[in-house]
Amino acid sequence: MSQKTLFEAIKEDHEEMYEYHDQYKRACEANDVPAQARWARQLTWEIARHAVGEEIVVYPLMEKHLGDKGKQLANHDRDEHLNAKEQLYHLESLSPGSAEFDSVITKVMDALHHHNDDEEIKDLPLLEPAIGEEASEEAALSFKKTKKLAPTRAHPSIPNKPPFETLLGFLEAPIDKIKDWFASFPTDDEMKDAKEELKTRDHDAASG
Ligand SMILES: [Fe+2]
Ligand SMILES: [Fe+2]
Repeated sequence: MSQKTLFEAIKEDHEEMYEYHDQYKRACEANDVPAQARWARQLTWEIARHAVGEEIVVYPLMEKHLGDKGKQLANHDRDEHLNAKEQLYHLESLSPGSAEFDSVITKVMDALHHHNDDEEIKDLPLLEPAIGEEASEEAALSFKKTKKLAPTRAHPSIPNKPPFETLLGFLEAPIDKIKDWFASFPTDDEMKDAKEELKTRDHDAASG
């Protein structure tokens, strides 16, 4: 049984982005503005969360293990993220269904296709052999945890409270603050123990 590598985890995320974008485009073709708004929201959170996840988990590894080349690649990637975040920021002031809204989405996704391809073709093929399979799988697990940075569609009765309730709040938060918050989740081992315990839990409601 083999775990996902970092490359696979990142690539899967990129595909998820493209899928949400396709759904958005389909909603545009159908002239369904509420659906455009929903898919754009899903897409923008996915982009923001993915970018922050890479900045926390992936780019520091590139800087640490790939020397000057790694620093250069990481800086270049961060600049491109900054550009995407600025576009998302702008998007928040526009109305779904408007021509400008659509053109910003197109611009962001065009830039991200190129950026994501660079990560898949240049960055990760350099990084993976440098860190080895085990570290790659570990990084993939950490990266997967960044899903918690974005709000999920919670059951209405369960309050859904990541610290960033709006996309703007998230985009404005300093990366150190996000990192602290991110680190405050249980470790993988702690989660595993809790899940094991859950299996043997026999809750007796009557005994209160
Ligand atoms: Fe990226
Ligand atoms: Fe990426």
